[in-house]
Amino acid sequence: MGLATGSTPLPLYRELIAREQAGKLDFSRVRSANLDEYKGLAPDHPQSYRRFMQENLFDHISIKPENTIVPDGLADDIPSMCRAYERKIEDWGGVDIQLLGIGHDGHIGFNEPCDHFPVMTHEVKLTEMTREANKRFFSSIDEVPTAAVTMGVGTVMAARKIVMVITGADKADILYKVFFRTGHAGGSGLHSAVPFRHVTLICDEAAAAKMPQEGQLNAAFRALRTQSKI
Ligand code: PGA
Repeated sequence: MGLATGSTPLPLYRELIAREQAGKLDFSRVRSANLDEYKGLAPDHPQSYRRFMQENLFDHISIKPENTIVPDGLADDIPSMCRAYERKIEDWGGVDIQLLGIGHDGHIGFNEPCDHFPVMTHEVKLTEMTREANKRFFSSIDEVPTAAVTMGVGTVMAARKIVMVITGADKADILYKVFFRTGHAGGSGLHSAVPFRHVTLICDEAAAAKMPQEGQLNAAFRALRTQSKI
């Protein structure tokens, strides 16, 4: 599984924990690779994504520690850590299900909108919008890291199935832009990949508020919908 952090997946993680506790799921043979990590934060830093995953999922399910990987934000040699991360995912046979949220600016993992997306796991400079959005978890904006390590769009899109979850009124604009605005150039990369990948989009009514009604769907979206579950 490819896993994500942020507020969006929290209800899902609570549900997965409850289902394993109820004997309906078994994570003992599951392997997981996380999307991203802040550069410069130790795994036990309260805001590191490794710690987030431990506290919100891994510590409560039977997944084996050696079967969970998160990019190492403290690596001295980031490019070689990134290559090793890609190799590990490959050795494990690739990602079957990738869980994705989306940032207000359309970022996937920490792949900020741009014209050419690095395909593989790489270091990225965080935009001010992303740092602003994430400062709620830190005591001040100055403490929010300025860089991160993220799976590339290629790594994400190589997953056999992608489940994207978008919730909340504050995501209505970006959901509309990424999925419905023809020719949107500032998106996340997902819109260009959607037509040839099996994607399920799950959203709540608040996030879907700007979605066109059935009669207003454009041809591009209709074509896309035949290949994805939206
Ligand atoms: P959020 O973050 O779930 O906290 O909104 C999503 C993201 O930034 O990718």
